[in-house]
Amino acid sequence: MAAAKRILSGIQPSGRAHLGNYLGAMRQHIEMQKDFECFLFIADLHALTTVHDAKQMQNNTYDLAVSYLALGLDPEKTVFFKQSAIPQHAELCWIFDCLVKMPFLERAHAWKDAKAKGKKEISLGLFNYPVLQAADILMYQPDLVPVGKDQKQHIEMSRDIAETFNKTFGETFKIPEPFIKEEVAVVPGTDGQKMSKSYGNTIDIFAEENELKKQVMSIVTDSTPLEEPKDPKKCYVFNIYKLLATKEEIKELESKYKKGGFGYGDAKKALLAKILEHFKEAREKYKTLYPQKDMVYSILENGSAKAKFLAEKMLKEVKTKVGYITR
Ligand code: ADP
Ligand code: TRP
Repeated sequence: MAAAKRILSGIQPSGRAHLGNYLGAMRQHIEMQKDFECFLFIADLHALTTVHDAKQMQNNTYDLAVSYLALGLDPEKTVFFKQSAIPQHAELCWIFDCLVKMPFLERAHAWKDAKAKGKKEISLGLFNYPVLQAADILMYQPDLVPVGKDQKQHIEMSRDIAETFNKTFGETFKIPEPFIKEEVAVVPGTDGQKMSKSYGNTIDIFAEENELKKQVMSIVTDSTPLEEPKDPKKCYVFNIYKLLATKEEIKELESKYKKGGFGYGDAKKALLAKILEHFKEAREKYKTLYPQKDMVYSILENGSAKAKFLAEKMLKEVKTKVGYITR
């Protein structure tokens, strides 16, 4: 039997898990545990580009770990770890830094967006973000990197960095492929833009019910009166609903929109009910797991020990290739 293919992905602990994270990435991570060898990590080194408060970093990290476990991450199947526990990521990043040219990084969307928004003082960490991500990925030689569409460029940059290293120092790194599910590549937020923690337009899957309700009710809609027919395709509420519902449920809601006499408030109620139903088990598990700090931390520690074993091996090979290890 051929060895299982390997996947690797990471999420920054920069806020609470939202529907975009879940549909675009986390759901695939959990599903792929069946058939792949999985590596998943909490990208806390990357999160330091925006989170500058120790308590917040700790809380976000813990919350993300509990969220993954509640959604079905099985630590027996997945190596689940914290990026900052593996110093080799930063070490490999430096080695790549010495090969990567600045104009290459100036093409990165995150940097270009920050500049376009008129941000003058961008940290070196943010500029260098894609190189650290390449180190995260290439360290573990994955075949696939399951992510949302916004991460496509980062995976392409990782591939380029791997090729540059291989050309300079000899075949070392496997070239990874992005794995992006087209129908959930970009989940819209409450204002119709890409759902993102940085836009404040998220629907947080583990928020308390009243908070979740507030987020759903805040979805922007047009001013078509209740009695008139509506175009479901143009409505963010419907576009989010359809990502969670069955074909029949989608058809049913679609015909209610088209018939008229069905308001956006009704649609929002249907969406909220759908979210609560879809995440019922996960939300209960989240509540049960949250107080079990020792257990959650030891899962991450065990995962980190496994990841470190591989990272040390890879870094030894890299250091040999660049000429640091002589005997
Ligand atoms: P955010 O943009 O909220 O900070 P992250 O950058 O932490 O989210 O993303 C974590 C993972 O979730 C990545 O794989 C990313 O591509 C995916 N993701 C985030 N937002 C969306 C979205 N709106 N639609 C699809 N995937 C998303
Ligand atoms: N940049 C990713 C995000 O914002 C997080 C991340 C860091 C990542 N390192 C990674 C994702 C390696 C996949 C693989 O979502």
